[in-house]
Amino acid sequence: MFGRKKCVVGLDLGSSVVKAVEVTLDGPEPVITGFARAEIPQGGNVQEAVAACLQQGKFKSKKVVVSVSGQNVVVRYVPMPKMSDNELKQAIRFETDKYLPFDLDQVVLDVQALTRAPGSGNTEGGAKPSNGDQVTVLLAACKTQSIDERVQLIQSQGLTPVAIDLDLFAIANAWELCGAPPTEDDEGGATRAIALVDVGATRTSINVVVRGETCFSREINMGGQEMTAAVARRLGLEPYEAEAMKRNAETHELEVNTAIGPVLEDLVSDLMLSLDYVENHEGVTVEQIMLSGGGILAPGVSNYIEQGTGRTTRIWNPIEGLRVDSDRVNVEELEAWASTLVVALGLASRVRSE
Ligand SMILES: Nc1ncnc2c1ncn2[C@@H]1O[C@H](COP(=O)(O)OP(=O)(O)OP(=O)(O)O)[C@@H](O)[C@H]1O
Ligand SMILES: [Mg+2]
Repeated sequence: MFGRKKCVVGLDLGSSVVKAVEVTLDGPEPVITGFARAEIPQGGNVQEAVAACLQQGKFKSKKVVVSVSGQNVVVRYVPMPKMSDNELKQAIRFETDKYLPFDLDQVVLDVQALTRAPGSGNTEGGAKPSNGDQVTVLLAACKTQSIDERVQLIQSQGLTPVAIDLDLFAIANAWELCGAPPTEDDEGGATRAIALVDVGATRTSINVVVRGETCFSREINMGGQEMTAAVARRLGLEPYEAEAMKRNAETHELEVNTAIGPVLEDLVSDLMLSLDYVENHEGVTVEQIMLSGGGILAPGVSNYIEQGTGRTTRIWNPIEGLRVDSDRVNVEELEAWASTLVVALGLASRVRSE
């Protein structure tokens, strides 16, 4: 049925779980035609998890989009005068000293001009008035070595990497593919923004979007692993016992909740720093938080974040509203893990530019 259609696998090489989602374009409509996940056991290797994931998924496509994240990646929002894309690519090379902690010859650079002018929106809270001659340029740099390692890993599995993205951007692409309401109206002069927050095992990725476009992104080194460690410490358990207790919290909800409280407190205070920053610098109001990632499955996380940040907080199911080919996909399992698939889906959304 999908014989000659465009089709790509988004492969999210998480630090604890490898997740793959295949998206096929049926005309303009994205359809989920494959899904698999494989946990990386403690001390286990990513390559084996990727192989297990591919075997389980039986994907039609060999084309894969992967992402990079962590310390080898830097993202900056740089104000620049308006110019063409080609001029921009040249000009930014002279600016990188100011913005990047890496040598230019060790990194792959990418730039994109955003549609919002720097500091546009309302001018309260210290935001600069917008300047029509300026654009904000999204500058992303990644150590070449990290990209080479990803490419080798993919190729060793007989797959073809068609793009390398960042976790940080993949969540915004997933939002654009399947989350964003058709129009996000602004109210009372303030520009409404939504914070997409993916809490993984070791990292939390934040991307604040305004009318579907990013205006801020940041990674925090904190996630589910730290919650497990807190449970282990407080209850005197081995890490694997603590992990099991965290995941089956119905019987020990109060203990787990109390144990992870301090981790959530830290997470909320880091999150607030980011939200305050973006509201002050971009003149937007972050009204809503959309949560994803395995880290939010621990008991009480969403409520804690909602109360701690004072913003409406929802768990994001990125599958909602997307067509799923139930002949090829175990729909029940897909639904069960839906909120952990945002990055994989965002990566697969590149199928539209294939
Ligand atoms: N049912 C559950 N309850 C609580 N936590 C859970 C549950 N299932 C998974 N987790 C936690 O989710 C985390 C894994 O989530 P996810 O797959 O989003 O991470 P990852 O992408 O591998 O990590 P990272 O993005 O940091 O590299 C682990 O810390 C795990 O303990
Ligand atoms: Mg992740």
